[in-house]
Amino acid sequence: MSISITLTLNGVAREIVLDDTRVTLLDLLRERLALPGTKKGCDRGQCGACTVLVNGRRVNSCLTLVATLDGAEITTVEGLAEGGELHPVQSAFIENDGFQCGYCTPGQIMSAVGLIAEGHAGEDLERIREGMSGNLCRCAAYHGITLAVREATR
Ligand code: FES
Repeated sequence: MSISITLTLNGVAREIVLDDTRVTLLDLLRERLALPGTKKGCDRGQCGACTVLVNGRRVNSCLTLVATLDGAEITTVEGLAEGGELHPVQSAFIENDGFQCGYCTPGQIMSAVGLIAEGHAGEDLERIREGMSGNLCRCAAYHGITLAVREATR
């Protein structure tokens, strides 16, 4: 049995038909909608590489079933830049060397955008580290990431 849901993805309304209600948001984005910016790391909710915003809140898209998203507003890293201008968080990551290999960077950036929107970032580096603790970086670029989030908060 297939189901149909409507959601808004990066500002555009989309109708999604699901033949399998077990499809995750991560697989929908990467495999059906050609949005590979959202990364698959662990595929089990441990690394944060797949972080996107659902109704403004950070979620692990690998743990989110598309079937639960009827009416939801989803933002991926592809939806951040506007009019050819990077989002301030993207610019802050560049200016503060908030990455090395870059694989975790989309998830880090989406998590930072969500953290700042939640009002939980502030200037305190320890608080930022705690707020970003769901996003792992195998290159250990944590210092630059933390500085980037602080700069973007200002
Ligand atoms: Fe989703 Fe790792 S791929 S948390």
